Amino acid sequence: TPALSNDQRLVGKHVLVTAGPTHEPIDPVRVIANKSSGKQGFAIAAAAVKAGARVTLVAGPVSLATPAGVNRIDVQTANEMADAVAGALPADIAIMVAAVADWRVAPSDVKLKKDAGAPDLQFERNPDILATLGEHPERPGLLIGFAAETNDVVANATSKLERKKADWILANDVSGDVMGGDRNRIHLVTADGVEDWDEASKADVASHLIDKIAESIS
Ligand code: CTP
Ligand code: CA
Repeated sequence: TPALSNDQRLVGKHVLVTAGPTHEPIDPVRVIANKSSGKQGFAIAAAAVKAGARVTLVAGPVSLATPAGVNRIDVQTANEMADAVAGALPADIAIMVAAVADWRVAPSDVKLKKDAGAPDLQFERNPDILATLGEHPERPGLLIGFAAETNDVVANATSKLERKKADWILANDVSGDVMGGDRNRIHLVTADGVEDWDEASKADVASHLIDKIAESIS
């Protein structure tokens, strides 16, 4: 008989992950989007399953296969992602990896024509899903965010940690070619300080994160 996984570190835990971009419609054929492949979030969901967790993965539009054993909910917009996250609570651990669009517009029902001139887009702020969880009555016991930064990486991540009432922020230095690639440069920012991780594959970042999570809840 095949050996069952003996990694039981997250058995009985519900892990909630967001991944990918969101798409905010402008008209039936155009969207406002973020550059995110979803690879890091999907790798984290897969690593959490491997450690025995029950995993809910709320995914924006990406072209990635669902990792085995993951309960995947597909969404398009930030509002849909926020609703899916709220609907998935309670969770023991939430890891917000998605690159959520910060702004949306009221979409046109019909396709905008270029000869009508530049569209007059009225931007509205989207809900901040991580910050909402930080203040939620069902706040996950361990709340983790990402921060993709091109400059002042740790300072920006530290302010997000405080502003969003997260426990950890994985600051990702995206200067260069990280977006869409297979590797990440992470600085783990917590109230206790900063830990610099070696540049690693997204799979290795995921399993290292799961190691940290398992340690911190044991
Ligand atoms: N996030 C979220 N909902 C949003 C925006 C961001 O849940 N509407 C989460 C991301 O998933 C990530 C963290 O917040 O875990 C940081 O996202 P980021 O875009 O870096 O932060 P912002 O607060 O939007 O700041 P910025 O102006 O740098 O984009
Ligand atoms: Ca943002």
